[in-house]
Amino acid sequence: MGFMTDAIHAGQHPEETTGAVITPIFQTATYAQAAPGEHKGYEYGRTGNPTRHALERNLAALERGKFAYAFSSGMAATSTVAQLLKAGDHVLCTANVYGGTARYFRQVMAHFNLQFSTVDTSNLDSVKQAWRNETKLLFVETPSNPLMILSDLAALAQLCKERGALLVVDNTFLSPYFQRPLELGADIVLHSTTKFINGHSDVVGGIVITNRAEVAERLAFLQNAVGAVPSPFDCWLILRSTKTLPLRMRQSNEIAQVLARFLFESKKVQHVYYPGLPNHPQHELAKRQQLDPYGKPGFGGMISFNLADFDTAKRFLKGIKLFTLAESLGGVESLICHPTSMTHASVPAEERKRIGLSDGLVRLSVGVEDKEDLLEDLAHGLAMI
Ligand SMILES: Cc1ncc(COP(=O)(O)O)c(C=O)c1O
Repeated sequence: MGFMTDAIHAGQHPEETTGAVITPIFQTATYAQAAPGEHKGYEYGRTGNPTRHALERNLAALERGKFAYAFSSGMAATSTVAQLLKAGDHVLCTANVYGGTARYFRQVMAHFNLQFSTVDTSNLDSVKQAWRNETKLLFVETPSNPLMILSDLAALAQLCKERGALLVVDNTFLSPYFQRPLELGADIVLHSTTKFINGHSDVVGGIVITNRAEVAERLAFLQNAVGAVPSPFDCWLILRSTKTLPLRMRQSNEIAQVLARFLFESKKVQHVYYPGLPNHPQHELAKRQQLDPYGKPGFGGMISFNLADFDTAKRFLKGIKLFTLAESLGGVESLICHPTSMTHASVPAEERKRIGLSDGLVRLSVGVEDKEDLLEDLAHGLAMI
C-alpha cells in the first residue's frame, strides 16, 4: 500500500465484537484465561496489549519494516537497543547526537563496561579510523541535533555489514515520511515518537523497528523483560496521530523552506543550518537520501541558526511571541529552543566547543501554522537585536 494509505490503515481493522472503526484503548493489565495457559494471545499487559500492537504494526509499515516495539520514551527505546550488547562491546556514535543519548551511554552504560565514543559520522574515513575490534554498534542520527549534519546511511550500512556491526539510526528528525533508513540498509531504526510521529506534544514515547528476525526476537524479549512499555492510552494517541503524519510533515517542510531562506537572507543571522538550503554542505546528499514516499526530496521542519552570542540570542528570544520557548520538537505548534542552555546542557562545555555548538545557536521546530505569522514572529525577534 502507499504511505498515506498505510498511515491511516496499517495495523488496524474494525474491532471484532462491536465493529468500532477506531482501535479501542484496551486499558487492561491482564486478560482472562479459559483454562490455565488457554488464552486469546494476550496474558499480561506488559507482555502484550492490542492497542500497542496496532501502533507497532502501523509504525513497522511506515518505516517499511517487519517488526516494531513500542516504548515509554525515546530514551527507553535507545536503552533497550543498547541492551542488545554485552559488557566490553563498543558503541560508535554520531558526535553531534541528541544530548540525552550521549549522556545515557557515557553516564549509565559506562558503569556496565560498555565502551562508547563519538565520531563525525558524516565522514566515512573518520568512522573507519574510530572503529575498534570491539565495535558492535554504530549509532547514527541524521540530520543531527541541532547542527543538522547529515550522514550517508547507505555507505555506513555497507561498512557495518562488512565489519559485522549493527547500524542503528535515530530517525526522529525526519520521520519515515522523509527518510526510511531500513531501505538504505540500516539494521534498526528508532524514534522518539514524542516528536513528529505523535506530533501534538502530548505524549512521550519511543519505537524501535527492524527487519531482522533474530534482532526482533531479542527486542521482543527485552521489551517484556525490561518492561519500559507505553500505556495503552499513549499508544492510542500516537496511533491517531500517525494518520496525519504525511500531512503534517509536508506542511512543516514547506514552511521550513521559507523560514530558512528568510533567516539566510538576514544580516543579523551568522549561519543557517538547514539541509534544504543549497549552501548546506550536504545538500546533494539530502536530495538523494531524504525522500518522501513518492521520491520527492524533503528536508523536514528543523532549522538551527547562529546569532552572535548568548546575549544576542536572549534578546532575540524576548521578541518571539508565536514560537513557544520549550524543549522538544515535532509538534503542530512551532517551538524554539536555545540548545546549549536547554536540550544540550548535559553535553560537557568542552565537547560542545569541539563539535561547534555555540551559545548563540537557536533551534526552530517548525509547526503547521500560517507561514506569514511565523515569518512575522522571526522578524520581530530579529528586530530586537
Ligand atoms: C533525536 C532525539 N532522539 C531521542 C530523543 C529522546 O526521546 P524522549 O525524550 O522521547 O525520551 C530525543 C529527545 O529530545 C531526540 O531529540
